[in-house]
Amino acid sequence: MRAKKTAALGAAVAAAAAATALLSAPSAVAAPNPIVGGTTTTASAYPYVMQITDSSQNQFCGGTLVSATKVVTAAHCMVDETTSSVRVVGGRTYRNGTNGTVSRVTDIWVHPDYTDATEGNDVAVLTLATSMPYTTASYVDSSDTSVYAAGTTARILGWGTTSSNGSSSNQLRTATVPTVSNSSCSSSYGSSFIASDMVCAGYTSGGVDTCQGDSGGPLMIGGVLAGITSWGEGCAQAGYPGVYTRLTTFSDDVTEQIES
Ligand code: ARG
Repeated sequence: MRAKKTAALGAAVAAAAAATALLSAPSAVAAPNPIVGGTTTTASAYPYVMQITDSSQNQFCGGTLVSATKVVTAAHCMVDETTSSVRVVGGRTYRNGTNGTVSRVTDIWVHPDYTDATEGNDVAVLTLATSMPYTTASYVDSSDTSVYAAGTTARILGWGTTSSNGSSSNQLRTATVPTVSNSSCSSSYGSSFIASDMVCAGYTSGGVDTCQGDSGGPLMIGGVLAGITSWGEGCAQAGYPGVYTRLTTFSDDVTEQIES
């Protein structure tokens, strides 16, 4: 499931990676990347963090509860999914847990211009059949563009792999990473980085990042949902920050979906 959803990304950034191959010294410097680099946490500490699962409750992406029945996630998480194939699980700290609230999905809105994460528009809103009894996250307004100022601390959350090609974390993890300027992210990713739709976050030296399975989950800035985990070249690699959906660009779309 995760491999299917991310297969296109490696190819899409291959050109950018090849262009900088001499700078990145692959594998020789690869170290275990504990989310890569964070700490374990709980669903009670971050009640708005949702597991997006298949019909057997196997988590494959993250999401953020923005109203009792609306969850923001990544469009690329919904490729080949239908309202009957997806569940949203709230209040569950562990991937193998059975607690919390499981909801079916009655509607999947994917941004109409979405084609691939590296082309932008990587946002989707799910409508839940069952209300989630958890505190929601507020999200940025379209005018809040200053939240992304380079160097701002952002919080990432998810159950994704703790190293590139590693296995998923059973327990929810979190870490903080600094936002990266558009010019710096363009240097990393070339034309795959679309500043209007994306924002990058990560340390220059790597080591802390989202990874496969974290997609769709929140990038929180100042306690407010400001981004959606979207893509990156490998995970936690020096010179290749994580790329997140720039939610200010899609805030009005999300509001429209919440009100629909
Ligand atoms: N596309 C991945 C997913 O589907 C998320 C990758 C994030 N990568 C990164 N280096 N930050 O889970």
